[in-house]
Amino acid sequence: MNFVRLVFCVALSGIASIAWATAAPTSLTPLPAQLDQADGSFQVDEKTPIVVADNDASTRHTADYLAELIGRTRGLHLHVTTGVATAGAIVLQRDPRATVANSEGYSLDVTPQGIRITARDDAGLFHGAITLWQLLTPDAQQGTVLMPALHIRDEPRFVWRGLMLDSVRHFQSVAEVEQLLDQMAQHKLNVFHWHLTDDQGWRIQIKRYPELTRIGAWRTPPDAGHEGEPATYGGFYTQDQIRQIVAYAAARYITVVPEIDMPGHAQAAVAAYPQIGVTGKRPSVSVDWGVNPYLYNADDATFGFVDNVLDEVMALFPSRYIHVGGDEAVKDQWHASPAVQAKMHALGVKDEDALQGWFIDRVGKYLASHGRRLIGWDEILDGGVQADAAVMSWRGSDGAVKAAQQGHDVVLSPAPGLYFDQLQSDRTDEIAGRIPVQDLASVYAFEPVPKELDAAQAKHVLGAQANVWTEHMPTMGHVEHAVFPRLDALSEVDWSAAKSRDWHGFLARLPAQFARYRAQGIGYADSAFAPEVGVDRNAALASGTAQVSLSDQVGAGALHYTLDGSVPDLHSPLYHAPFSAKLPVTVRAATFAVDGSLLASPHQRVVDQASLLSLGGNEMPNCPGSDFRLRVQPMPDATSLAPVYSINVFDSCQLYPATRMDGVVAIHVDAVRLERNYALAHDAKLVVSRPRSTPFGELVVHQDRCDGQVLATLPLPNPDQAGRSFALDASLPAQHGEHALCLIFTAPIDGPLYAMARIALLPTGTK
Ligand code: ACM
Repeated sequence: MNFVRLVFCVALSGIASIAWATAAPTSLTPLPAQLDQADGSFQVDEKTPIVVADNDASTRHTADYLAELIGRTRGLHLHVTTGVATAGAIVLQRDPRATVANSEGYSLDVTPQGIRITARDDAGLFHGAITLWQLLTPDAQQGTVLMPALHIRDEPRFVWRGLMLDSVRHFQSVAEVEQLLDQMAQHKLNVFHWHLTDDQGWRIQIKRYPELTRIGAWRTPPDAGHEGEPATYGGFYTQDQIRQIVAYAAARYITVVPEIDMPGHAQAAVAAYPQIGVTGKRPSVSVDWGVNPYLYNADDATFGFVDNVLDEVMALFPSRYIHVGGDEAVKDQWHASPAVQAKMHALGVKDEDALQGWFIDRVGKYLASHGRRLIGWDEILDGGVQADAAVMSWRGSDGAVKAAQQGHDVVLSPAPGLYFDQLQSDRTDEIAGRIPVQDLASVYAFEPVPKELDAAQAKHVLGAQANVWTEHMPTMGHVEHAVFPRLDALSEVDWSAAKSRDWHGFLARLPAQFARYRAQGIGYADSAFAPEVGVDRNAALASGTAQVSLSDQVGAGALHYTLDGSVPDLHSPLYHAPFSAKLPVTVRAATFAVDGSLLASPHQRVVDQASLLSLGGNEMPNCPGSDFRLRVQPMPDATSLAPVYSINVFDSCQLYPATRMDGVVAIHVDAVRLERNYALAHDAKLVVSRPRSTPFGELVVHQDRCDGQVLATLPLPNPDQAGRSFALDASLPAQHGEHALCLIFTAPIDGPLYAMARIALLPTGTK
């Protein structure tokens, strides 16, 4: 049955009763496996009890959870009772003979007599309760709901529906982690992969090794204590807090898989206990994002440490899988160590990758002897790994293909596709993150089963997972912006049947999801829908009239706009096609869904001569030849969402696009000095060093090309004396017609990085 089409018809046809008027009542995300509409309806109001039919603690817990969630987000306060199912009630029942056999599956029936959720297992009943909550919150309005009769049978496509949170690069409180777990539960995700150790911090209390958190949990950021950067940064979770989080997750049918990264990403551990490192030296806890050199040693004493740590980890986390990392271990320290080389010789392993294979295998056997299973990033395949290890494919999907062909179970979490630290738009107001952009549509289009796999191999695909790396996410506000609504797309990838994937149906269901976010204070991103005001700059400069076009990333909403700075609403003009507007003009636009709800609040652009002659640094592309790019905060731990600056750690060079230069006499640059806290490992040799003529380097402005005529050289101030943000000004020689500019920082590559907040070209007469 084409149930997707059915859902869409229900949403648009208005055949249902009047209580459906404001939104599609079947705005379910993820889409259930089967949904059939039936005749009649059932009214839920404050008198409707939630009845726990089997009087069991888990079912009661699910009923209480449902009642609390409905009360908090819908303003409907329902009472939970235990006993015989009656008419006029919401009944939750676990039934070993329930028709949906999958332990996470359920059926949900709305009839004129009441509502019944049935499942064989607790997890299924819980997922059914979440579906009912979504049915009751099509628009998160308050009060009575008249629910259309329907029948849902539902079960997940994959068993591993994951989200990884990096609590190392930036630390989240217990309450913040719990808030994320709540959202995972609402999206029917069931694996919380918790990245707890790395070069920049050790975040899990290990009682046998107190230095791991006394020393390893804290770092001294670059420029600590200045201009808002904290003097120390860090934190850790006590074992009690971890038990609390594991229990919180379990109550939502989420398994917490801890990651203790080894043999690389070990600098914080080595900072705490240098004797488990290779060099014997004590590094500081790293403040550099990227790939740091510190590795665990491969001797018996280090394995004693690893085993003891894993003992405490296993005692805290009941998960069958324990993640041991394995990623990005540059082997220089092993290569340079006579002791490690002697060990390799004694073991008869041919190179350092094979030694990592032996290392991981040893850890895997230890886990197996305790009834656990190892999972690691796809590098664990490079040195060979035992058959029962599971592989998390992050370097694209190749690792998944190779692993599944070798018979390993695999989880797909490829970069950049499912890395939620990638930007989700290239809008100027987008927050910090990496390029390339991974937008909502691309996450929605992700297919977890690589097409290279045959049917038997495909059975090894456990599911897909998104990763939230937090180098550039110092607060939960950053995390929420990065995660929502891309998590909706992921939930559908992981839960819903492949054949039901329907981008437009998904978009039609998002306004209800946004309303649920608003009801819970979740700071979701409107990047997919935010209006973009486009203007042909040169034509407007020449004619004094702007040709204005409006767009948004997905192109699914209705864009309403004003030209007088007032707030656009549904009565404001609806955008159809580019229009002319005389300069100066303030274009303000907002995006609305078909049901009239707001998809993106107003964004505005002032179009006048000054704005047409200026650009934000985030709008200027890299120079040819180096496409690495990050948007970063002013300081590594700055906590606000804005401002952000675009940098290329390999080559500080950006292009200002061809612009009518007639009458331009000067350039003004708002610049910023940033920390160069990036560990590039073997890629460090790719950083471009440029000759300079003054002590701290300059910003050099070339005409048209990066080897073109030098139009201006603006010396950079002494970093010890200037504030982080500073202005640079220079006059420019007269130019005619359109010219591009190439702007290059020549600052020493062992000193700070520089970025441009804004460039303004100044015509005659401006001060
Ligand atoms: C990874 O992104 N290093 C797994």
